Amino acid sequence: MSTLLWIALPYACLAVFVAGHVWRWRHDQFGWTTHTSQLLESRLLRLGSPLFHLGAFGVIGGHAMGLLIPATLTEAIGISEHTYHVVSVTGGTITGVMLVAGLALLIARRFVSGRIRRVTTTMDKVLYAALTAMVVLGMSGTVVINLFGEGYDYRETIAVWFRGVFWFQPDPALMTGAPLVFQLHALGGFLFLALWPFTRLVHVWSAPLAYLWRPYVVYRGRRGPAPAAQPTPAAVREAGLHPASTRR
Ligand code: HEM
Repeated sequence: MSTLLWIALPYACLAVFVAGHVWRWRHDQFGWTTHTSQLLESRLLRLGSPLFHLGAFGVIGGHAMGLLIPATLTEAIGISEHTYHVVSVTGGTITGVMLVAGLALLIARRFVSGRIRRVTTTMDKVLYAALTAMVVLGMSGTVVINLFGEGYDYRETIAVWFRGVFWFQPDPALMTGAPLVFQLHALGGFLFLALWPFTRLVHVWSAPLAYLWRPYVVYRGRRGPAPAAQPTPAAVREAGLHPASTRR
């Protein structure tokens, strides 16, 4: 059973993640968008979307730090276990709360606005449910166990198993002793990856990052004399001029 959960399932999910993206790109390039509903409702979106996205960036950064960087490396550069714990629990709680607040607003607007409710697909509902489950499980681990509870050093177990998946050497024994909420969260994380290509989350890979450094598009100069007015076709006819001769 533990081989199935901690070895087979992660690889099956990663395979679906890759194959799913290829399938989606080939079959639904026009659907490869955020499916924005900003035109239908913008009041709650204006607050919910930045909160959700900033929280998500923080949580992704925190996961990269906690799962990908070995404890031996942070200790080697002089960051003690205590300092790491304080930074991770503080950062994780702040970004997690932002994510929860943003997600709550995004879900609420689907209920309060009839127009948004009508354009909400089954896949959107599945995605919101999956996000909620992941966030509740993650926050339970961070807040209930690591902030107020007895604490659990996931860098010695979960993080080592997680990196092992990508080195093709996952050790299921590292996961069997982890608290249930962390076990469910880690399995949920891989299931979430398997769901990803079939949802609007594919827009993440098409984020318009080039907007940050592209030159401005100037539609009209702010300074300088206004351009000379072009003669109207009627004025051209009246003056007996050929239209071509008025072109500059
Ligand atoms: C296999 C993939 C994943 C693993 C192994 C994993 C592992 C963890 C661990 C160990 C924590 C506790 C961090 C701490 O207490 O400092 C955590 C927290 C959390 N996780 Fe994950 N996670 C995964 C995927 C995800 C995904 C896909 C989401 C969201 C969709 C997510 C959302 C959260 C949140 C909101 C928290 C609490 C705030 C924070 O610490 O950042 N996780 N996760």
